[in-house]
Parts: sequence; structure tokens; C-alpha cells
Amino acid sequence: MNLNQALTHPIFEIISKSAAELGIDAYVIGGFVRDYILKRGQHKDIDIVAIGSGIALAKQVAKNIPNHPKVQVFKTYGTAMLKYEDIEIEFVGARKESYSEESRNPIVEDGTLEDDQNRRDFTINAMALDLGEANFGTLLDPFDGLEDLEAKIIRTPLDPDITYSDDPLRMMRAIRFATQLNFTIEPASLDAISKNKDRINIITKERIVVELNKILESDVPSIGFLLLEQTGLLQYILPELMALKGIDEKEGQRHKDNFYHTLEVVDNIAKNTDDVWLRWAALLHDIGKAPTKKFSKKVGWTFHGHELAGSKMAYRLFKRLKMPLNDKMKYVQKMVFMSSRPIALAQDVTDSAVRRLVFDAGDHVDDLMVLCEADITTKNPKKFKKYHNNFKLVRDKIVEVEERDHVRNFQPPVSGEEIMEAFNLKPSREIGTIKESIKEAILEGKIPNEHDAAYKLMLEEGARLGLKRHEV
Ligand code: CTP
Repeated sequence: MNLNQALTHPIFEIISKSAAELGIDAYVIGGFVRDYILKRGQHKDIDIVAIGSGIALAKQVAKNIPNHPKVQVFKTYGTAMLKYEDIEIEFVGARKESYSEESRNPIVEDGTLEDDQNRRDFTINAMALDLGEANFGTLLDPFDGLEDLEAKIIRTPLDPDITYSDDPLRMMRAIRFATQLNFTIEPASLDAISKNKDRINIITKERIVVELNKILESDVPSIGFLLLEQTGLLQYILPELMALKGIDEKEGQRHKDNFYHTLEVVDNIAKNTDDVWLRWAALLHDIGKAPTKKFSKKVGWTFHGHELAGSKMAYRLFKRLKMPLNDKMKYVQKMVFMSSRPIALAQDVTDSAVRRLVFDAGDHVDDLMVLCEADITTKNPKKFKKYHNNFKLVRDKIVEVEERDHVRNFQPPVSGEEIMEAFNLKPSREIGTIKESIKEAILEGKIPNEHDAAYKLMLEEGARLGLKRHEV
């Protein structure tokens, strides 16, 4: 089969010419070929295999590009990279790797194209297109990757036990591709992943998180989390989620399975946001339920304080996975911590409760509503409709209250300086007390969020605290 229509970008002519000048063969391989056949749109990275030195080919290509881009050489890996317009092109010499029982590190030798295809992760990633002038665009597909693409199957070129044991990250990649592409992992592969699951421990947290994020960013993330659970990998990566699995029953009372509930919430939210951090918040919103679960005869199952527990766990989880401990982490913590607020509020939508919600959530109030709406997983159509209607009321009220009271990014209408001046005070506790009273009065709706009303309240509060007015 010839797929030269995949190679219309001028860079391929340049690579072809450069390889000819060096007298070596070169091929495009991997994601570019796969995504072209899947019509997934232009794949941003291009992987080139040279039957010879990848570094030499990269340098030759750079020479043949008019502005001579810089070649980044990774000597230890024998690879090189250059950027052409917005495309990153990676060059590697074809390799043959053999692993011995004693060492994790492979013995690497020069190899043929087929040797190189053999050591790749999946048949759908091992397809290559010839860049030689004579056979430009010919598909080289020794493992029937094309058939697997059509059948939507993830399969390894070699015995899966070898492929996954050689590079355990591939276990995550298999599940990630299955999720992104909605493919099935063939049974032998699934067995091999289960068997090799503990080898995930030799993979750096950062690389695991890259794959986790890609799973979360997919249209239906639950596909991936179910596979992680089914293969046993989830226990190694996100034990907090595993702990949510199962239903307890005592005295005839059962609670819902919070693992499957969580996955439904994540799938729901994926329909309404592409923000991966909001998706993380959905994934973690109930993790505090495992350690806070209690049963009492009177009230049945409870999870008191699970939001606070969950937000603390979110921090530890980010830290363990070496994820950024920055404002994104704080955002996820805040979402987890506040995840039940709108639900409690929807029972009785009062102005003051909505003002407090907006005050506490700040700019994240809309995201919080998206999370809470995704959290509605009841199978009872009447309840489903009722809860959504209630949240609609909350949303309307948020807009109404915000237009009137501007508490979203609350700025005290009377400043500390004004209070100090009014009572001739030095910085002191009283200033905080007065400010807090003003804020509370605004949130409760006792006074409008305006300077004059707040100033009047300040004078009253000052008098109550026994402060004397500064005579001018
Ligand atoms: N590859 C592999 N084993 C890995 C990683 C990569 O065999 N652990 C091979 C595959 O042939 C893959 C190619 O290297 O197609 C390029 O890898 P990468 O850029 O990580 O993935 P892509 O397949 O391009 O897909 P994506 O961009 O979606 O990650």
C-alpha cells in the first residue's frame, strides 16, 4: 500500500533528499502514521528512523532547511531532534535491543527497520512509511497494524510479556491509547499487564502522570480508570480511588459504590469541561469518603467531614505523584473541599447562602457548579430533574446576587486606613473585628455592599467596642 498522500508536507522531501545524500534509508514511524490513517488530524511530532545514524541524518536535514534550525543531540540515546515550523522531528537510528535476565538495561546494537519495529510498543505504532525516493510512501507493516487499527485493537508486536516487562510504562500507554481511541486491549496483553503490574514501580512518577492526564483528558476517561482497576495498576498509582470501591451493608442499609460513582462523575464532567484540573477535582472529589465512613443505627452510613479529609488527601496525592504543588493543586483542593456546598444549598436557595458560596468560591464558583452538576448520578429520572432544576435556581441566584452585591472578589468597602483614621487607632485587633462585622453584615444581607452603609456600621461597631471617634 502506498500512502504518499500522508507525506505532502515539504519536510518529507527534505528528509528523503538528505537520506539519499548520506546513502541511508529513512522511514517515518509511529504516531504520525497511526494518526494519519485514523484521520486524527496532523500529528505534531514526527518520528524518523534511519538505518544508520539518526544524529547524522538530523544534521544533514538541518543543512537542507533554509534557516538551518538547531539540532538537539541526545548522545546517550543516540537520538537527535530539530524543529521545523511548529513540528518537532525526532531522529533515531534503527536499533535492535536484547534484554538479559540480570540487567534492566538493554544491550543496544544497530539493527534493521524490522528489528526497530519489533522493539516498539504496539502494532499500531510500529507502522512505517518509506522515505526512499524509489518507494516514497510505501507502508511497511510487518505486524498488521493496519488490521488492528480497523479492528480497534491494542496488540504488541512481540510476546506482550516481553514488551511490557522491557518498558513497563507501556502498560500505562496501552490503557491510555485504549481510552483515547476507544480501542480494546487484546486479552493476552491485559493478562501480561496484570502479571507485570508491580514493575510500574520502576517508572518515574512524572511519566505516569503524563499518561494519567491523557486518560483524564479523553472523551470517556472511565474507560482508562476501569482498565487500571481491572489490571491491578490502580492500586499502585491511585490507591485512594481503590479504597472507594465496594458497598458495605449493615442492618439492611447500603451506601453507593463511590468508585463507580466517581467514574460516572468524571465522564459527566468530561462532557462539560476540557480543563484537566477540574477533571482531577471530579476524580478526587469523594476520596475523603473512605477514611471518614461510619455507620450508626440512627442515621445509617455517614461520611462526615469527607470534604476536608479529601482536600488534605489531594495534597498528599499530588506530592506523592510529584505533581505541581502550585495554584493548580490548591484549586483542586478547594474544589474537593467545597464540593458539597452547592448541594446543601440547593435544598433551600437563600440569598445569604448564595452570597457566602460566591464569596468563598470566588472566581471558581462556576467551575464548582459544573462539578456539582456532574455529581448528579441518580438513576431516578424525577430526582435527576429536580436536582438539576435546583442547581439552575442556584446558578440564576448567583448571577442575581453578584450583579447586586459584587462579593465574587470581595474588597472591603471600608478600608483598614479609614477605620484607623475614624478612631485614631494604630494597627490593632479591633480593626480586624470591625472589618469582619462589616463582611458578615454584607454576606447576611443586613447592609448592601456599599461604602456609606458600611461606614455607618463601622461607627456603630466602634461604639460597641468602646472606641472613641477621632475629633477633626
Ligand atoms: N514508543 C515505544 N515505547 C514507548 C514509547 C514510544 O515503542 N514506551 C514508540 C512507538 O512506536 C511510538 C513512538 O515511539 O509510536 C513515538 O512515541 P511517542 O511520541 O511517545 O507517542 P506517539 O505514538 O507519537 O503518540 P502520542 O503523541 O499520542 O503520545
